[in-house]
Amino acid sequence: MGKGIKFLLGNERREIEGIDPTMTVLNYLRLAERRCGTKEGCAEGDCGACTVVLGELDGGKVSYRAVNSCIQFMPTLDGKQLLTVEDLQAPDGTLHPVQQAMVDNHGSQCGFCTPGFVMALFALFHDGSAIDRQRIDDALAGNLCRCTGYGPIIAAAKQMRGKDARDRFSANSAATAAKLGELQQKDTVEIAGEDGRRCFTPRSADALAALLLEHPGATLLAGGTDIGLWVTKLHRRLDPVIYLGEVEELQQLSIGESAIEIGAGVTYARLLPVLAKEYPDFGELLRRLGSGQIRAAGTMGGNVANGSPIGDSPPALIALGARLVLRRDGGRRDIALEDFFIEYGKQDRRPAEFVEKILLPRRDKNRLFHCYKISKRFDQDITASLGAFNLKLEKGRVANIRICFGGMAATPKRARHCEAALNGKPWNRETIAAGQAALRQDYTPISDMRASRTYRSMVAENLLLKFFHETSEPAAATRVVGTDAKAAHG
Ligand SMILES: Cc1cc2nc3c(=O)[nH]c(=O)nc-3n(C[C@H](O)[C@H](O)[C@H](O)COP(=O)(O)OP(=O)(O)OC[C@H]3O[C@@H](n4cnc5c(N)ncnc54)[C@H](O)[C@@H]3O)c2cc1C
Ligand code: FES
Ligand code: FES
Repeated sequence: MGKGIKFLLGNERREIEGIDPTMTVLNYLRLAERRCGTKEGCAEGDCGACTVVLGELDGGKVSYRAVNSCIQFMPTLDGKQLLTVEDLQAPDGTLHPVQQAMVDNHGSQCGFCTPGFVMALFALFHDGSAIDRQRIDDALAGNLCRCTGYGPIIAAAKQMRGKDARDRFSANSAATAAKLGELQQKDTVEIAGEDGRRCFTPRSADALAALLLEHPGATLLAGGTDIGLWVTKLHRRLDPVIYLGEVEELQQLSIGESAIEIGAGVTYARLLPVLAKEYPDFGELLRRLGSGQIRAAGTMGGNVANGSPIGDSPPALIALGARLVLRRDGGRRDIALEDFFIEYGKQDRRPAEFVEKILLPRRDKNRLFHCYKISKRFDQDITASLGAFNLKLEKGRVANIRICFGGMAATPKRARHCEAALNGKPWNRETIAAGQAALRQDYTPISDMRASRTYRSMVAENLLLKFFHETSEPAAATRVVGTDAKAAHG
C-alpha cells in the first residue's frame, strides 16, 4: 500500500504523507501554502469564490476542470495538477488572456469573487468547445458576484470567443503530462492525519471490495459534493474514508445495445452529453443540476446512494426503468432502482456493499420521456418538486406510463395510483383530470422552506397537464428555455 499523495501545485511537485484526510483543498491552499488568492465565501459549493482548476491526464494530454476547493478533500488531489489564480500570470507579469479580458471589460469591483470567476473562465478557455452564450452562462452559473453585475464578466468571456485557446499551459502540455505521468500510483494509497484518521484510495473494484470488508463502516467518497458539507457545515469527523475517484471500473461509461451502463464514479460533466443525446430532457435536467463546478465533481452514483428525496436524477431514472448494480466482496445483485429507496434516510445497501453501476435502458422510439425540475432559480438550486413521465401511446390510448416524482414524499416515489388511472385510457383531458385526482392519493407532501405542501400538490398536477399538452398533437410550445416542445415531443 502506498503512503501519501503526490500532486503538482502549479508546476511544483508536492508529496504529502501526513495530513488530515478531510482537510479541504481551500484550507490547504490558504493555511499551508499561504496562497490566499483563492477565497472562501460560503464553504458549501454555492458561491464559486473558492474555484480552482484541476489538471488531469486524459489520453496522454492534460484536461482541465473547475471545482469548488471548499468541498474537495486533499486525498482527491493525488496524481493531479492543482492550479490557482496565482498560477495564471506569466513570470514576466503578462496577464493570462482570461485575466486581460476581465481587465479590458471592467469585470471586477471589490474583487472578492474575481479569482473564482477567472478560474471558471480559465476552464472554459481550455474546454475546446465553441464559447456561445449558453456555454458562458453554464460555465459561470456557479459563481456569484455582488458588485460588478454579470454584464462585464460575460463580456470578458465573449472576448475569448473565437480566440485560439493557446496559452502557456497548452504550450507546456506535453511537459505537464509527463510530470503527471510520473506521479501516478498503482496501488491503494493511504493517507492519515495526526489523530490517526485515514483515507484510502483504491485503484480497482476488487481492492475497494476488500477494503470495505475490512472497514464496513467507512465513508465512501465520490465527488464529495454532499460529503464535503458534512465536514464544513456539520463538522463531522469521518474515519475512515475510502475515495472512489481512482477506482477504474467505477469510471466506465458505455453505451450498449439495450442499456447505457453508468459507472457509479462517472461525473455529471462526462455523462451530460451522452444523456442529452439519448434523452434530451434528462440532459436539460443535468444542465440545471448544481453548477459547472458541482457537475465536474459530482456523480450520479452519489446522487442515488445518498437517498435524498430531492435528488434530481432518481425520479428520471425510475421513470425510465433504471436498475442498480450493487457489489459486496465478489458478489453482485441487480435491483430495480425504485426498490433501493426504502424510507427516508434508509436505502437497501448492505454493510460492505457499494454501488457499482446504474443501468439505464436505451431510448425506445415508441415512448415519450419528459421531465421537469421546479426550483426557485433556474441554475444552482435544489429542487422543490420534480416530475418525470415516460409514456407509450398506441392508437391514442395509454399503452403504458411510468411516472415518478421527487420532493413529494420521503423518497423518490412512483405515482402508482396516477399510473393506474391513466393506463389503458384515451390520452385526453378527461383522463388527465382522473390522473390529477389520483395524484392526490399518491402523495401527501410536506411544507418546507422550498415550497408549501399545497404548492407541491398543485405543481405535480400541473406538470401532468403540461406533459399532456406537450405530447398531444399538435404539441403545445410550453418551454421558455431548454429543450423546445417540438424536440421534446420527438
Ligand atoms: C452547491 C450544490 C448544489 C447542488 N445542486 C444539486 C442539484 O441541483 N440537484 C441534486 O440532485 N443535487 C445537488 N447537489 C447535491 C450533490 O451534488 C449530488 O447529490 C451529487 O450527485 C452527489 O454526488 P457526489 O459524487 O458528490 O457524492 P458524495 O458527496 O461523494 O457522496 C454522497 C453519498 O453517496 C455515497 N456514495 C457515493 N458513491 C457511492 C457508491 N459508489 N456506493 C455507495 N455509496 C456511495 C457517499 O458515501 C455519500 O453517502 C448539490 C450540492 C451542492 C454542494
Ligand atoms: S466558498 Fe463558496 S463555493 Fe466554495
Ligand atoms: S466584484 Fe465584488 S463580488 Fe464580484
